[in-house]
This record gives sequence, C-alpha cells and structure tokens, in this order.
Amino acid sequence: MAKGVGCSTPLPFVMALVLATAAITSLAQDPSQLSLGYYSKTCPTAEQIVRTEMECAVKANPRNAAFIIRLHFHDCFVQGCDGSVLLDDTATLIGEKQADQNVNSLQGFELVDKIKEKLEAECPGVVSCADLLAVAARDATILVGGPYWDVPVGRLDSKTASLDQANSDIPTPQQGLATLITKFSAKGLSPTDMVALVGSHTIGMSRCVNFRDRIYGDFQLTSKSEASAQVYLSKLKETCPTDGGDDNVSPMDYTSPTVFDNAFFETLIQGTGLLNSDQEMYSSLLGFETSHIVEKYWAESISFFKDFSDSMVRMGNITNPAGGEVRKNCRFANA
Ligand code: HEM
Repeated sequence: MAKGVGCSTPLPFVMALVLATAAITSLAQDPSQLSLGYYSKTCPTAEQIVRTEMECAVKANPRNAAFIIRLHFHDCFVQGCDGSVLLDDTATLIGEKQADQNVNSLQGFELVDKIKEKLEAECPGVVSCADLLAVAARDATILVGGPYWDVPVGRLDSKTASLDQANSDIPTPQQGLATLITKFSAKGLSPTDMVALVGSHTIGMSRCVNFRDRIYGDFQLTSKSEASAQVYLSKLKETCPTDGGDDNVSPMDYTSPTVFDNAFFETLIQGTGLLNSDQEMYSSLLGFETSHIVEKYWAESISFFKDFSDSMVRMGNITNPAGGEVRKNCRFANA
C-alpha cells in the first residue's frame, strides 16, 4: 500500500457492492455532456468525499498529490480520460499497468480504491473512476499550494484498456521536443498546454533510471558548469550512479519539491532540469516557442497557474468516444 494512505476507517466495500443496485449498463460517451452539475442530483456530496480523502492522504504524505496528478495524465493520454489506467490485468483483459512508462512507476492505486469505496458507500454505481481521478487531481493540486479550477464531470469508465497505446502515446523522458510536441498535439493539446502541464513536475520524484542519461550527458552543458549546479550534479550522481540504483529517487524541482509553485521553471532556465524532456522545453534548438513560455511562467506565477488550470480542463476533456460504464471497482470492468 502506498505510504500514508488512509486516515479514516475504510467502509465495508462488499456492503457497498451489495447496495450497488443502480443500473450499470453500457452508455455512449458524448464529450459535450461533461458538465459542472453532473452529480448535483445523483451524488451531491461526491466532490466533498473526494476532497476529504485527498486532504487526509496528502497530509499523511504530500507525494500522494503527485501520484494522483500523474495517474490522471496517464489515464487521459490512452483512450481518453476513461479510467483505463486503473484496470488490473485479468484472464480476459490486458491492462496498461505494465506499459513502459507505468510499470514500477505509477503509484496511488490504493488511494483511488479508498476514495472509490467512500463514493460507492454514499452513491452506489454513480461516480465514475475517471471523474474520481479528474476531481482528485484538482484537489491534489490545491492541497500542495496550486490553483483551483472547476472540473467538468460526467466521464464514463472504459471496459477495455490499451497496453499498445500506453506504450506508444505516453511521452518518455528521452524524447526530444519535436516528438513531445507531436504527442501532445495528437491529443489536441498545444505546445503551451504541454509546457503548462509539465509544470506539474514542480512536485514529485523521478527514478534514477529516468534521469541517468541526462546527468551523465548534457547536464554539464545546459547548466553552464555554474558552481551551485556542480554541487547539485554531484549529489545527483551519488543518488544515481552509472550502474545500479535504478529506483533511487530525486525530486524534479529540488528547490521546493512538495510545493506546487513556479520554481520548476527556474530550474529549466538555469539548465538544471532533471529530466531530459523537461530541459528540452527550454534548451532545445527547436525550443524558440516553448522557451518563451518557460520564461513567462517563471516571471509570472499567476500566468502559470491560470494556464495550468485551463490546460488541465482541456486534458480532462479528452473523452473516450467508445463510451463505457460506471465501474463498481476501479480495478475491474463490471461483470
Ligand atoms: C513531456 C511529457 C512528460 C514526460 C516525458 C514525463 C515524464 C515523467 C517521468 C519520467 C517521471 C518520473 C517517473 C519515475 O521515475 O517513476 C514523471 C513524474 C511525474 N509526472 Fe511527468 N512527464 C510528462 C508530462 C507530465 C504531465 C503532463 C503531467 C501532469 C499533468 C505529469 C505529472 C507528473 C508528476 C506529478 C510526476 C511525479 C510522480 C511521482 O512523484 O511519483 N507529467 N514524469
């Protein structure tokens, strides 16, 4: 179980399932149907339930905020925001948890289960796992100091997942700016959306395996060998030797790793971004467009917060046209 999950007594999930008598049939998904009041009659306390559980979890371990925001991103980039990332492998379904960017990396699944238990106990069969993630990601952001935005809801959960799409569509830290822009564009997201969304690396950690090439590669070059950068680089090399220690972690924003602020963009301007993909936004030869956005977000926190909120809504609006259902358990499609 993820560290720090749980500060209230879990409700008996089995009871909740027994109570889940609402019609759980397959429904078509119309993205225009996402709305702010979607649960106002069917589950008026839904947002409060998510908020309370997130408060508990983030208080116990601020990294829970990072886990949930990243889960929402990896959900939305594969088949749309449909909870597909949450599905476990079964005899009849291959999930996305073993995808290259997900395996040994994504966390927070137990926290999602816990929030879902609460929602099912209050309003059985009503609130989708995809909506749970979207609302929890917003709450996660606020709870570590970031902006608030209204989350349109009404997403449906998929009955399927796509390991292939997870492997092909989720960006990797080794990719260059052109590929990253293409991957976001394929999801209807602009370079500005991309830079704003990547700003969520202001919180959370990366494993050594994802930044080894960078610290033994062009880190020296981009950081212009400044003295303070050299001290930081030595520490990174201790955490991440050339051989071994793949799962050792380091924060992506070493100045304020648990606070959602704009300091991450300063690290890029200083050339000390931890991930190659992050540094690309500022230092790539093709980065004439994105480097200005990085500078703007470092100069104006308000502008970063505003754009981040808008881009999270845009990313959250990527729906799965195949439609789906409201899963009873986020790990499995309904029987
Ligand atoms: C250019 C695209 C992106 C790439 C290549 C990328 C890559 C990564 C990598 C490699 C990690 C570390 C994972 C590990 O070592 O286990 C990470 C962590 C994280 N990413 Fe991204 N990311 C991208 C965009 C985003 C976006 C759009 C969001 C959210 C909107 C996001 C949210 C996060 C968060 C919160 C973490 C920290 C997770 C933790 O602490 O466990 N990332 N990302």
